[in-house]
Amino acid sequence: MILVTGGAGFIGSNFVLDWLAQSDEAIVNLDKLTYAGNLQSLSSIANDPRHIFIQGDIGDAELVAHILKQHRPRAIVNLAAESHVDRSIHGPEDFIQTNIVGTFRLLESVRAYWNELDAAQRQNFRFLHVSTDEVYGSLAQCEPAFTEQHRYEPNSPYSASKASSDHLVRAYHHTYGLPVVTTNCSNNYGPYQFPEKLIPLMIVNALAGKPLPVYGDGQQIRDWLYVADHCSAIRRVLEAGTTGETYNIGGWNEKPNIEIVQTICALLQETCPGSSFNQLITYVKDRPGHDRRYAIDATKIERELNWRPAETFETGIRKTIDWYLSNQSWVADVQTGACRDWIKKHYA
Ligand code: NAD
Ligand code: TYD
Repeated sequence: MILVTGGAGFIGSNFVLDWLAQSDEAIVNLDKLTYAGNLQSLSSIANDPRHIFIQGDIGDAELVAHILKQHRPRAIVNLAAESHVDRSIHGPEDFIQTNIVGTFRLLESVRAYWNELDAAQRQNFRFLHVSTDEVYGSLAQCEPAFTEQHRYEPNSPYSASKASSDHLVRAYHHTYGLPVVTTNCSNNYGPYQFPEKLIPLMIVNALAGKPLPVYGDGQQIRDWLYVADHCSAIRRVLEAGTTGETYNIGGWNEKPNIEIVQTICALLQETCPGSSFNQLITYVKDRPGHDRRYAIDATKIERELNWRPAETFETGIRKTIDWYLSNQSWVADVQTGACRDWIKKHYA
């Protein structure tokens, strides 16, 4: 079996669902269930014996040692993290604790477990660390996209904490020989994303007739990847990635934020003719230290592992909007206390 951390979050729940749809190999899912973790996203596998959910912290060494001893995973996919840039600006502490200290403690527990495996198991074992393109910092319009060689220049507390964790993972390979692989992925979107991130926030606010807050001039550029494509890339790297290597994962979909918001408005207009979602677009104060542009050069993973995204932005965003339209009870359930408090505090 494999151990996934953060498997009740956005990418984690998509990964767990995808994995069990494609394979009979069981998954142990360790998740602290912070505001971003949601077991409802996994309700369709609630009675599936191949999924074992454990609520807990990746930094709880005793718990992690116990899980590793009991379940003896052949691989770990580390998705647990604090993941929202704006929250890291309001309060970086949790980001340092989970993304840096938590990853360090997890690595220590895994190193002890891996050391006790027999030679063949040690060789086949994988620790796959999921990271972000934000560790590379911001690009000017004319600069080429990030390759794996780009220097780390993280600009937010979030990206700095992820960069630190990437360095720790790298060091555990270099120093102890732990068979690690790191992936650096661009912005994901799709089902089960908490409505604090750009795309789900815009869909949910538009449907509620609320303002669509666009930071600054809305010309910041991100590369967007449909979450199922990220899941397939992680599976591929787990299967065939070379240990000690990093792989950039992206969608070849660079778009300015304002274009994303206008596309969402136009697609919602098709489903709800007569409404005028564009009028809800509201330019608001910019995010401090806002990175202007991220872009991923995903040539290496294509060349070495033969992976390419299946979705274009146009197909992925339609699927995403359909999902949010068909799952309004999921949205209503996550828009409880913690979510409302955040929106009030941040957009006041
Ligand atoms: P998310 O915030 O939706 O989910 C994170 C999950 O981790 C939640 O279920 C939460 O409960 C859990 N968690 C948090 N702290 C924990 C801890 N100490 N111990 C155990 N579980 C804990 O995040 P996401 O968007 O699904 O991102 C998953 C990973 O992918 C993160 O490492 C993130 O940095 C990375 N990533 C995300 C994106 C993106 O666009 N969302 C892009 C690139 C990389
Ligand atoms: P986000 O989804 O928070 O991802 P990240 O900051 O990790 O890339 O934001 C994506 C882009 O959208 C980013 O440039 C900030 C912008 N944004 C807004 O303009 N308004 C919003 O309300 C949010 C949440 C984000």
